[in-house]
Amino acid sequence: MVVAAGSGTRLGAAQPKAFVSLAGRPLLQHAVRRVLDSGVVGCVVAVVPTDLVQQADELLGPDVIVVPGGADRSASVRCGLAALPAAVDTVLVHDAARCLAPPDLVRRVVDALNQHPAVVPGLPLADTVKQVDDEGAVVRTPDRARLRLVQTPQGFARDLLERAHRSAAGSDAPPASLATDDAALVELLGERVQVVPGDPRALKVTTPDDLAHAGWLLGLGA
Ligand code: CTP
Ligand code: MG
Repeated sequence: MVVAAGSGTRLGAAQPKAFVSLAGRPLLQHAVRRVLDSGVVGCVVAVVPTDLVQQADELLGPDVIVVPGGADRSASVRCGLAALPAAVDTVLVHDAARCLAPPDLVRRVVDALNQHPAVVPGLPLADTVKQVDDEGAVVRTPDRARLRLVQTPQGFARDLLERAHRSAAGSDAPPASLATDDAALVELLGERVQVVPGDPRALKVTTPDDLAHAGWLLGLGA
């Protein structure tokens, strides 16, 4: 599932972020092509803004199922889950905004799903992280060696992901940070989530600087 129904407020482009062009192709098309190129994905569902369903359908062709998304990322993932064919038992959830996530990374996550019901790619951090309180005072400094920057695609046994989303949708307002990360919902169920090595090319295009960075990576062959 490629979630692409966001508006891209921070990018500030004229159209929703997944439809912004990078070297002549929308971010969504870059993302879907790399997922399909992995050779390990049997079916792709793209979740897009309601008014762009037809445009996405024409862009992505008959092999990709296109459905309208929801008000936040979690709602869009639930729209995608509802559109999955019955035979699917393993799901990757991927951000269209991570448009250059390479086929290798998709294969790495799928490989790990043979051993684990929930898998996320993660990168080590270069910077030190501080946890602060409301006044900005440092509460603690987590050991950087134990931290990871988490990316997508994130992989799950379908029933586990559906259970995680059902349980999150039923509870009153989980913390905002959880709405942006499917694995966090699985963690809330007390289930184990395995981290595999991420890839710098899976950066999330959020700001205009990120789009420039993605263009540079593409120029290098990403
Ligand atoms: N997303 C989605 N449905 C939403 C919100 C987000 O499918 N209602 C998707 C985005 O399209 C994106 C991914 O979730 O591929 C990650 O979200 P983010 O980078 O935050 O994208 P936007 O929400 O579009 O950007 P912004 O937060 O700057 O508005
Ligand atoms: Mg957003």
